Amino acid sequence: MKRTKVIDALKCTAYGSDICVKGWVRSKRGSKEIFFVALNDGSTVKNLQIVGDVANFPEEILKRITTGACVSIEGKLVESPAAGQASEVQATAIEILGDSDSTYPLQKKGTSLEFLRSVAHLRPRSNTFGAILRIRHNMAIAIHTYFHEHGYFYFHTPLITASDCEGAGNMFQVTTKNLYDLKKDEQGKIIYDDDFFGEQTSLTVSGQLEGELGATALGAIYTFGPTFRAENSNTPRHLAEFWMIEPEIAFMDQEELMDLEEDFIKYCVRWALDNCKDDLEFINNNKFLTPNADLIPRLEGVLKEEFVRLPYTEGINILQEAIKNGKKFEFPCNWGDDLASEHERYLVEEHFKKPVIMTDYPRSFKSFYMKQNQETADGGSIGYKGAVAPGPTMQGTDVLFPSIGEIIGGSVREENYDKLMAEVDRRGMDLTHLWWYLDTRKYGSCPHAGFGLGFERLILFVTGMQNIRDVIPFPSTPKNAEF
Ligand code: 4AD
Ligand code: MG
Repeated sequence: MKRTKVIDALKCTAYGSDICVKGWVRSKRGSKEIFFVALNDGSTVKNLQIVGDVANFPEEILKRITTGACVSIEGKLVESPAAGQASEVQATAIEILGDSDSTYPLQKKGTSLEFLRSVAHLRPRSNTFGAILRIRHNMAIAIHTYFHEHGYFYFHTPLITASDCEGAGNMFQVTTKNLYDLKKDEQGKIIYDDDFFGEQTSLTVSGQLEGELGATALGAIYTFGPTFRAENSNTPRHLAEFWMIEPEIAFMDQEELMDLEEDFIKYCVRWALDNCKDDLEFINNNKFLTPNADLIPRLEGVLKEEFVRLPYTEGINILQEAIKNGKKFEFPCNWGDDLASEHERYLVEEHFKKPVIMTDYPRSFKSFYMKQNQETADGGSIGYKGAVAPGPTMQGTDVLFPSIGEIIGGSVREENYDKLMAEVDRRGMDLTHLWWYLDTRKYGSCPHAGFGLGFERLILFVTGMQNIRDVIPFPSTPKNAEF
């Protein structure tokens, strides 16, 4: 008999018809006469109830229906007398496809998230991770749909590259060299001419620079792929391997970039509410995951909010004012300091109580490729809507979100060759791997802008999960890449 998925069996009203379902046993209970099995096959967070008469099956088979076992069941679909489910199956035949012994780690309800991380190979079978992974899939579809519908082309940038886009040096090296026998020059520096690519290469930290090449040819592109950062950040918001979405658009200015960032995130959140109802409700109504049952209201709230558009300088003023009024922060936040997540979250969660798009950051801690704001005679600069800053600023345009902090990092790009070169010189950057990037400013340069969305940070927000290790199937973090 052809297999029916649990999600379809639960919706089906052809009562009395024969049906075959396959899946994993979540639980079994019953009496001497009758048994109940909760069956899940991953197609939905909801289990299908199987009911059977003990007398109709050999004891040998019934004993093997244990939590975690994989079974195939044939029976009659009937209207369920139990509340909370429309249909159930009255079993007529049971086949054990895979036994599960008593050491199966997902026995109990409410197993801690920390414990589940240690069994990442099995945790997708828990209700919580099933829900998260289906939401994650839906978000990927939302992202592709959004860009496709808006005329962006999916552009594939390399994972192995000699270029360090962000210039932060947090790269994982890729080599086929024998690490026990390295060829070195007289100064002891490693020579790479005998390495696979003939030069030092790494895993990408961002596809942006190559994305800009795409945008200046196809008009609007986006990337969506794995990204690697060897930063030793053991926080609930950092992974060593994460997924990033990077749109890049020709002829886009600062205001349009902010419009895009806001519209895009809202589209994704709306998509989740429209397409992941059962999984969101499961998380929302699970006291262990969402004590205040406020996940869905929080998502709906974001759709109603207009994001605040805030120059960095104004943000610093607000933080300074808060400090004057007794607010304590761990890290300093004077003009010129990079904001820590505590500062971002203060602005978003306590001051504005809605998402903030922050712009016009000091040049000192932003990347070389960002568009430079017009400087004033006294060393300051003029930015968004004429706002004045006390030092040089760039049109970095980040989105800060409640409970996450930075969810998007973006900017308008410096399209002027001379200004970009001056910045490269000022930073003493090595030109060896930048020539092709600088060519975009030599041959038909155009104003353009783009951003990078951390996929897992979006999933954190949409699922309300607290730790980034719990929104990717197999997280890699410092000292941990086992699976
Ligand atoms: O702010 P970032 O470093 O920006 C860039 O890489 C730009 N090249 C993007 C662009 O303009 N095309 O990273 C972008 C986003 C961050 O806002 C954050 O959401 C996510 O990527 N991110 C991380 N997510 C998980 N783990 C990490 N270690 C992350 N580092 C950045
Ligand atoms: Mg950033």
